[in-house]
Amino acid sequence: MRRKLAAGNWKMNGLQANLSEVRTLNELAKDAQCDVLLCPPAPLIGAIAAEGGVVKAGAQDCHTAVSGAHTGEISAEMLADAGAKYVILGHSERRADMGETDTIVRDKTQAAWTAGLVAIVCVGETLDQREAANTLDIIGGQLAGSIPDGASGLNLVVAYEPVWAIGTGLTPTTDQIGEVHDFIRTRLERRFGTGVGRSTRILYGGSMNPKNVTEIAAVSNVDGGLVGGASLKAADFNVIVQAL
Ligand code: G3H
Repeated sequence: MRRKLAAGNWKMNGLQANLSEVRTLNELAKDAQCDVLLCPPAPLIGAIAAEGGVVKAGAQDCHTAVSGAHTGEISAEMLADAGAKYVILGHSERRADMGETDTIVRDKTQAAWTAGLVAIVCVGETLDQREAANTLDIIGGQLAGSIPDGASGLNLVVAYEPVWAIGTGLTPTTDQIGEVHDFIRTRLERRFGTGVGRSTRILYGGSMNPKNVTEIAAVSNVDGGLVGGASLKAADFNVIVQAL
């Protein structure tokens, strides 16, 4: 049985003042039946981890190397040292803005595992790719290229995020979500074996909110959400936590 995961991605939002939202969420979600995670900008990771409640801290990226001459970068080991338990890798915003390829994401995932972090590896198609009926080919290629050998249900979470649904208020139909999640499950089972494939959590991300979470969470093979905008306010995110 997979334990569901409510993962919030604050993206480039959040100051010290916003830690009050984390304290509120820790209180509201203290009896949560799922795992609860917030991935803030790096300067807030330590403070969220130090709160010590049900809300775990995660990061939004890491470097491939452990240390060295990489000005401005942060290694997975440093994130773990700050109290992070998870790291989001290969988010479409980083693939688009920073030119991250599947190979880079795979190397970052390996670095995350070496540091003891759970990697949340993101995959998803653009609208053009969906309209050209290439969605499953794109997802299959991203999965094959972005995940190293050695995955387990403990070190890997996959997040399906259609690029066109992120921050737009648009969401795929539940049939479309189910088709992709079933496909991801099958690919994971085929590559890593049924034990690993069945125990790996697959999150949906893209305009998930308090209103649509119940319908999306009921789709087969949806094991939680990777939530952007609706994770910024504790009251909103708690609705999602409670629905999972
Ligand atoms: O990582 C989160 C996703 O990009 C979803 O963002 O919930 O604001 O659409 P959103």
